[in-house]
Amino acid sequence: DTSKLWGGRFSEATDSFVQRFTASVDFDQRMANEDIDGSLAHASMLQSVGILSADELASIEQGLHQIREEITSGAFQWSVELEDVHMNIEARLTQLIGVTGKKLHTGRSRNDQVATDIRLYLRSAIDAIAGELTRLQRGTIELAAQHNDTVIPGFTHLQTAQPVAFGHHLLAWNEMLERDYGRLQDCRSRMNQSPLGAAALAGTTYPIDRAQTAAALGFDKPTENSLDSVSDRDFAIEFCGFAALLMTHLSRMSEELVLWTSAQFNFIELPDRFCTGSSIMPQKKNPDVPELVRGKVGRINGHLISLLTLMKSQPLAYNKDNQEDKEPLFDTVDTVLDSLRAFADMVPAIKARPEPMREAARRGFSTATDLADYLVRKGLPFRDAHEVVGKAVAHGVAENLDLSEMSLQTLQGFHSDIGEDVFEVLTLEGSLQARDHLGGTAPAQVSAACDRALARLAER
Ligand code: ARG
Repeated sequence: DTSKLWGGRFSEATDSFVQRFTASVDFDQRMANEDIDGSLAHASMLQSVGILSADELASIEQGLHQIREEITSGAFQWSVELEDVHMNIEARLTQLIGVTGKKLHTGRSRNDQVATDIRLYLRSAIDAIAGELTRLQRGTIELAAQHNDTVIPGFTHLQTAQPVAFGHHLLAWNEMLERDYGRLQDCRSRMNQSPLGAAALAGTTYPIDRAQTAAALGFDKPTENSLDSVSDRDFAIEFCGFAALLMTHLSRMSEELVLWTSAQFNFIELPDRFCTGSSIMPQKKNPDVPELVRGKVGRINGHLISLLTLMKSQPLAYNKDNQEDKEPLFDTVDTVLDSLRAFADMVPAIKARPEPMREAARRGFSTATDLADYLVRKGLPFRDAHEVVGKAVAHGVAENLDLSEMSLQTLQGFHSDIGEDVFEVLTLEGSLQARDHLGGTAPAQVSAACDRALARLAER
């Protein structure tokens, strides 16, 4: 069977298993719209440079529009014999408009075609992801603004360290997401160049206008080198690198949400609609959404490694290996979009429980550093102050008393320079208030940081 689009030099039909094994249409049909966009731009350029007549272009355009509708409505018949999205569409075009359809592939190869399609597909995926990421950031900042003076314990080593504002903690999440957004945009701008015109690998003998197709498809410019154009998949790897970091951040946020919803922390409540129950334990309300997002990092990291390994040692230019780029990339896009959507919906619905948060901060001697700093202001060297406060904490542990609950007399027993003014620094509020500089947790700083963070979003 030499009915294949490339069948001219073949004398026997493709083995039916090989046909299925080498086909990509099951997954690359996802790029059908981009493939049609690329073909429309290519055809119109071919007409501008005199390779197609105006009538031929009109007929190709009409055929491609019809195919787009067939695909959108689900009427299109995809065929594994036609291997991939590109040849399925081209074959249908010829079926619809006759011999003119066969002229579309003039000066083009599937190699530059697929390189173009993936970039177009990923570019719109990036824009959708940027939208969800922005929505999550806005929700996070708005929640932070409501909690500029809600006290929680800050942790190091997951041991109570110093009190911070809950809003300050949420703004730390936002900073991670802000960097992710920057990485996403870096990836987009490096990727946004048109490989169309590289043809199979060496360019083409036709007088094509690469700038025209690049502009028509919204690319910043054409790529520089034809060999590189058809074999570069850096952009997919960069995107997966972005995704791995973003998902790592979401997993850290997830872990905190899981901890905070536990009875032992009891810092927040997640609305029922983001949780599920247990089929055996009637009391259970499980934070499935953050748990699942935490778990999905595994496949995302896997996809990054898949793509790096796929590209390693490939000689120039195009190799069939590259067909393997799509499934990891598409699953990364889907997973990132779903995870961001879940988080963007869920974060604004977090209900803080200020009382247990406060109580936890109080219980952990979180103002011990403040007492040491107080003694330093009274003239003690910091190391000596540290020692004095350590003794006071040991006493508090033994007597189940917070530093702020000890009498002045008791405190003076640890150091005679301690005066009545000590109680201002021992309160949780005083501790927050005292860290009043750029990046610190004082409520006024947190509010100002929220304003700046929202202003950054408004500039996007
Ligand atoms: N389905 C192929 C891919 O995904 C399209 C390019 C194939 N080119 C070729 N010469 N076999 O990479």
